[in-house]
Amino acid sequence: MTKPGERPIFDLDNTDPELLQRLPETLGEMQSRCPVAWSPSSGGFWALSKYDDVVEASSDWETYTVTQGIMIPPTGASMPVIPAELDPPRHTKLRKLVLPNFTDRALQEWRPGLEEIVRAAFKPVLPRGRADLISDIAHPVPVLAICLVLGIDSDWRRIRELAENFLAATGQPVLARQRAQELEAFLEEEIDARRGKPVGDLLGQYVNATIDDEPVPASEMLGLVQLMVVAGHETTVNGIGTMIYRLITEPGLRDRVLADRSLIGAVIDETLRLHPPVWNMARTVAKPTEVRDASLCPGEKVMLVYGAANRDPEKFAEPDRFDIDRSGLSRHLAFGIGRHRCIGEPLAKLELRLALEYVLDHLPDVELDGEPRWGGGTNQHGLRSLPVRFTPTEG
Ligand code: HEM
Repeated sequence: MTKPGERPIFDLDNTDPELLQRLPETLGEMQSRCPVAWSPSSGGFWALSKYDDVVEASSDWETYTVTQGIMIPPTGASMPVIPAELDPPRHTKLRKLVLPNFTDRALQEWRPGLEEIVRAAFKPVLPRGRADLISDIAHPVPVLAICLVLGIDSDWRRIRELAENFLAATGQPVLARQRAQELEAFLEEEIDARRGKPVGDLLGQYVNATIDDEPVPASEMLGLVQLMVVAGHETTVNGIGTMIYRLITEPGLRDRVLADRSLIGAVIDETLRLHPPVWNMARTVAKPTEVRDASLCPGEKVMLVYGAANRDPEKFAEPDRFDIDRSGLSRHLAFGIGRHRCIGEPLAKLELRLALEYVLDHLPDVELDGEPRWGGGTNQHGLRSLPVRFTPTEG
């Protein structure tokens, strides 16, 4: 057993923006040198990078609790993120409230509206024949999508700004608090406008729902809506960006998908395996445990490093290769696993699918028009800029 003081040190400083420029390489090095690493950054935390260890920790809520926060360093929000920072039984009940609305089947109701959102995002750039796929196209889609599904009919630029500001302030406690309050104030207005009123939209349905015959407390409702707005934004932007990047740069891929649209699902999953938009989430040790040779003590933070687990050579042969024919490619952990697995996975995948279908139908000759730029945050990773050109059309 590794004793305190003999911890296998690997300094994974996820607050260093430079890390994002060499993320896969750094995570690969950590996994092969130190599969269970102690990183001294951000007050110290364990980093689990092997696929099986991440799955095991995600499946054992009694040892690895979410109630002490799921981000390293903490966001500074005044209240728990709902349901992500709740353990059972409350977690299970809140999940049950929203899950039925986010299945593939339930989302079909929103498909025409989502198609329109994608079409409207591309429309202004079509005659130009040039665009930044991230800022011009990917950015508006996820915010508009979640607002459509929930029934929030406000200015999407304001919501996007609030959600982005909130995420960008992680690790700066005073600013983070202020940004969280701004987002909370906006969402509270939307919630209050529906409380006790027969509003037919999904948000109104949640606001007036009961669990065990009790209304859902206002703070839980706010935390839930806040998570849906924030969790689905930058993540999906990153997914759309890296997917189109792969379509453009992966030899032969575009021709194959143009000829056979049934490959779209595999393109989405393989993109998310190689470029998980959320490259880590955190837990806190609730009772003493061991992982491989390391002893983890109560109160210590643990980072589940999806970005490394998704390239674990014991699970994915030649893990750095983009390969839509690999077996078991959907076993990646881009959406987490276990009780807290992403609720928005079907919605995010539908958005990615519609964006890819649009590109194949209307911009089939799209190509790079400059250097893509990578970036992200303490747990997000993706393209900040993806300049492209294509044959102009009238749309
Ligand atoms: C490509 C896009 C997305 C990615 C990569 C992603 C990834 C994740 C990850 C890694 C988790 C945490 C799992 C854990 O802690 O064990 C999560 C949780 C969650 N996500 Fe997503 N997400 C995406 C889009 C969305 C969207 C569109 C929504 C909108 C509804 C959403 C809502 C949530 C919620 C509510 C949770 C908390 C689930 C729980 O704790 O039970 N996500 N997501």
